[in-house]
Amino acid sequence: MRKKIIIGNWKMNNSLKESLDFLKATDSKLKNLAIDVGIAPPYLWLKDLRLKSKNLIISAQNCYFKNKGAFTGEVSISMLKEINIEYVIIGHSERRLMFNETDELVNLKAKALLANNLKPIICVGETLKEYQENKTLLVVTSQIKNALLDIKENEIDNIIIAYEPIWAIGTGLAATAEIAQNLCKNIRMIISELYNNEVAKKVRIQYGGSVKPNNIKRILNQKDIDGALVGGASLLPDSFLKLVNEVKINGY
Ligand code: PGA
Repeated sequence: MRKKIIIGNWKMNNSLKESLDFLKATDSKLKNLAIDVGIAPPYLWLKDLRLKSKNLIISAQNCYFKNKGAFTGEVSISMLKEINIEYVIIGHSERRLMFNETDELVNLKAKALLANNLKPIICVGETLKEYQENKTLLVVTSQIKNALLDIKENEIDNIIIAYEPIWAIGTGLAATAEIAQNLCKNIRMIISELYNNEVAKKVRIQYGGSVKPNNIKRILNQKDIDGALVGGASLLPDSFLKLVNEVKINGY
């Protein structure tokens, strides 16, 4: 049975005070959950939040794949390890589109994270144009194959795939649960073809893109969807707790 995982991707939002207040308002309410629940705050707040959090997973939003050196502005995996970060989002569409993060770079980051026993959350998803041209599966298949290049079967357990159609991110237009399920099922099939059925059954696949308290239950009820990567609705404690409660109430 795959454990559900909800991660709030804060992007470049929430001040230090807002982040600490968020933790105060949520952390103690998230004890003994049967699901994994976490946030990915800006780099600068990671250490403070990691030290103070008892129940929330504190994930990074990015990393660089080299261990150290002349890479101005970057943060290495060993630095994240030093402050006990376990999960790292890579290949988010905003990084792909605005910061030229390529499939190749996503693969290098995924391999480096796995080599360090960290868990990459690998984001994939198509643009609106690709969606309208019925190229979703083609695009996502290629992103997954490239991201997983040279990754071994025994490392796949530590990977999370986040399917995030770009047209659904920040637009309020979430994919229907049926569309999301269909894609996530296809992602599992791609992994089964690349590895085998056993491996594919174990990989956790999240959906992301305008997940809100009023649609999370329906989305996470789908057979192949194991969680959500949530932007806007994860920023404030009330809304975040509502997301978690919807899933919890649902019997997970
Ligand atoms: P959203 O963002 O929930 O605000 O659409 C999701 C994401 O970018 O991960």
